[in-house]
Amino acid sequence: MTKPIILTGLRANNDLTLGNYFGGMLPIIDMAQQKSDEYQINMFIPDLHSFTTPIKHELLYSQIIQTAKLFAAAGLPLDNDSIYLYRQSYVPAHSELTWILDCFTYTGELARMTQFKDKSNLDESKLLLLKKEQNKLLTLSTSVGLYNYPVLMAADILLYGAKYVPVGDDQTQHLEFTRDIAERMNSKFGELFVVPEAVKKQHEFFGNDQGLRIMDLVDPTRKMSKSATSDKGVIFLSDTPDEAAKKIMGATTDDKAFVAYDPLEQPGISNLLQISALLSGKELEAVIEKHAGQERYGDFKKEVAEQVKSFLVHFQEQLKQVDEAAVMSKLESSEKAMNEQANATLYRVQQAVGLRPKA
Ligand code: TYM
Repeated sequence: MTKPIILTGLRANNDLTLGNYFGGMLPIIDMAQQKSDEYQINMFIPDLHSFTTPIKHELLYSQIIQTAKLFAAAGLPLDNDSIYLYRQSYVPAHSELTWILDCFTYTGELARMTQFKDKSNLDESKLLLLKKEQNKLLTLSTSVGLYNYPVLMAADILLYGAKYVPVGDDQTQHLEFTRDIAERMNSKFGELFVVPEAVKKQHEFFGNDQGLRIMDLVDPTRKMSKSATSDKGVIFLSDTPDEAAKKIMGATTDDKAFVAYDPLEQPGISNLLQISALLSGKELEAVIEKHAGQERYGDFKKEVAEQVKSFLVHFQEQLKQVDEAAVMSKLESSEKAMNEQANATLYRVQQAVGLRPKA
C-alpha cells in the first residue's frame, strides 16, 4: 500500500528567511525525521514559481542548489527512500497539469488571491477598478505568472496526491483553492485527485492551532518576507549571527513598557515572543508566561537576540558540513522517481479530459 504524502515547497529566488524556516521548512523536516516510516515526504523547490515577480536570472540556478543545501542543513535526511527532494522544473508534468487545471479555473478565483493583490502593487484605485471590472486585470502590468501561480501550486500538490501540506499562513488561501479545484475536477470527471485535508485538520496534524505568520521586525503589521523592500526587518538564514542579533535589538516595539502577547495592540513584542518560542522549542504560552509584565524591553530583546544568534551559528555550521555531491545525487534520484509518480497522475487526467484513450 502506498503511504500518505506530506509535501511542501519553498521558492529559491532569494535567501530564505526565519519565516520560511519556521513556516514551511521545519514542520516537514520534523515529519521527515520522525514519521518517514508512515508517510512519504516530498520536499521540493518550486523553481518555476521563482520569477512570477522579476528576479536576477543569472543567480537563479545557483540559488536553487543553495536552497536544496539549506534543506539538508536544516536536517532533511538524504539517505532515506521515503523522502524525496526535487526541483519542480525537472518534472515537466507540473507545467502540463497546470495548463489543464487552468482551463477549469475561473479568473475571478485568482483575482481574489491576497498574495496576487499584495505583490502586484495594486493601489486602491486599481483595486477598485478590479472589483468593478475584473477584465481590466489583463491590461495591468503584472505578469500572468503571478496571477496564475496558485494553479501551478495546486498542480504541485495534486500530482502526488498529497494529504498534508505544511505552509505558513500566507499560503492558506492557495491551499483552499487546491481543495476547490480538486473537488471540482472530481465531481466532473470522477475520483481523479486526492483532496488535501482542510486547513483546520492540517493545523491539528502539525500540532498548531493556527497558521504561522512571523512578522517584519521593523513593520510588525507586515509579514516577514524575502521580497521586503528593506532588509532591516527580515532575518535571513545567511545573516551573520551578529547582524541578526542587531536586527532583533532594533525591532520596533511600543511605548507600553510591559511585555504581553497582544498582536493587535503590541504587534512587535508579540512577534518577538513568537520568535523566542520557536527558537527555544517551547510552547508560546510558556514563553508568554515567562516574560509577562517584564518592563525593560531591552532585556527581553537581548534574550531573543542571543537565541537568534546561537540558532544561526548552529545552522550555518550545519550548512558548511553539507555534502553538495550527496545533495545533487538525491535530487537526481528523486526527480527520476517523481517523474514516474507525477506522470501516472497526469496520464489519468489526460484520459479523463479526452487527450488520451480511456483504458
Ligand atoms: P514561499 O517560497 O513564499 O514561502 C515558503 C514557505 O514559507 C512560509 N512563509 C512564512 N511562514 C511564516 N511566517 C512568514 N513570515 C512566512 N513567510 C513565508 C510560506 O507560507 C511557505 O510555506 N507558493 C509557495 C511555494 C509553493 C508551495 C507549493 C508550497 C509552491 N508550490 C506546493 C506548498 C505546496 C510560496 O511562494 O512559498
